[in-house]
Amino acid sequence: MKPEALPRTVLVVGAGGREHALVRALQASPAAPRVLCAPGNAGIAGDATCFPVKADDVPGLVALAREQAVDFVVVGPEVPLSLGLADRLSEAGIAVYGPGARGARLEASKIFTKEILIKYGIPTAAAGIFSDVEPALAYLRARPVPIVVKADGLAAGKGVVVATTPAEAEAAVREMLLEGKFGAGGSQLLIEDCLQGEETSILVVVSGRDYVILPTSQDHKRIGDGDSGPNTGGMGAYSPAEVVTPELLEAIERTIVRPSVEAIASEGIEFCGTLFIGIMLTRDGPKVLEFNTRFGDPETQAVLPRLATDTLALLWAASRGTLRHVRLQVKPVHAICVVVSARGYPESYPTGDPIGLPETLPAGVSVLHAGTRRDGTGRLVTAGGRVLGVTATGTTLREAANRAYSACEAITCPSKYYRRDIGARQLRRQ
Ligand code: AMP
Ligand code: GLY
Repeated sequence: MKPEALPRTVLVVGAGGREHALVRALQASPAAPRVLCAPGNAGIAGDATCFPVKADDVPGLVALAREQAVDFVVVGPEVPLSLGLADRLSEAGIAVYGPGARGARLEASKIFTKEILIKYGIPTAAAGIFSDVEPALAYLRARPVPIVVKADGLAAGKGVVVATTPAEAEAAVREMLLEGKFGAGGSQLLIEDCLQGEETSILVVVSGRDYVILPTSQDHKRIGDGDSGPNTGGMGAYSPAEVVTPELLEAIERTIVRPSVEAIASEGIEFCGTLFIGIMLTRDGPKVLEFNTRFGDPETQAVLPRLATDTLALLWAASRGTLRHVRLQVKPVHAICVVVSARGYPESYPTGDPIGLPETLPAGVSVLHAGTRRDGTGRLVTAGGRVLGVTATGTTLREAANRAYSACEAITCPSKYYRRDIGARQLRRQ
């Protein structure tokens, strides 16, 4: 595609590490677009002009895009998508990467997705769907543990309980259905067979029935080393995930990606955006754990630095309906993102702690910001659970990991915490 055909002004919506990675990748385009972000964070503000409009303020974002003559909006998080941001932008004649509210339901309702997966014969765990406690408990009694209880709606990664005892499963059912622990998102739930295996994240750029599969990656969801402790939004990622061999990727494309894209289109959903498929690699083959309808965080931080294809051209092609002409080029490097969080996350954690970043970073390392802000005196301080994403590339995963971890050590912050074993599973296998 000719650079002059690309948008001049791009707005990234969101405030996390994923959005910082998107801002950097879009800025690296040969088309040299003007990149804006709303609301952004302290690190994004160093790279792009930020506007204090919250990511869930749909009218505010549409107004901002109009005022700033934005040609193209790239939406990071799921909440604005499920609130219809992409629909409102399209109505305003502004091109957008990210699905409308109907497409975003594939993430916002696990039941909606499960029904589609079953209808189209796409491999996934067997599940029962419930809105009342008694039938849910009766179903539980007839199933072995471990078993998985999932709130239907958006719960910021916290609506899934992998129960190892019947009591734990029953408690999860009661909390979700009776105590309204997840608000409206928990008024219905799924009880799903527990799948065993290794997980992988497959990010697919989708435009109607056309798609481009991005490089494979693996997230680390638990807070502690060795996959211990509670689930988080994601504590680190690396790419490629070599557990997904070329043969396995071919099977994933044939049994999951292509049928899913076809199913979504057949359901009358015009989907333009990222279909992020969480997959469990079981002994019976790959199975779908979930759909998300946006880029993964922190997978994106590890995947985008590996693209040789211009990210702006790729996402723009998806929104223009020309994705079938794109042949993805990937750099032969390994990438890793180690998330630096505030100690205490995913439960309670301090904010406002000063952050000291190294003056210079080694080649191949970048520090992406997530929960950061400037305080009244201009100091960089923590402002969220996941604070930074230390990202590095290397010719091997070992090299990338060594680079990222030496940068993690050099960062100062009283509440600094990070997992020491991002990528360890793959490093052990090598
Ligand atoms: P989800 O939001 O559906 O991806 O669930 C969050 C996490 O819970 C997944 O990344 C898995 O680690 C775990 N999980 C979800 N569903 C299952 C399942 N059926 N079997 C085993 N683990 C699961
Ligand atoms: N890293 C998992 C997610 O973005 O949901």
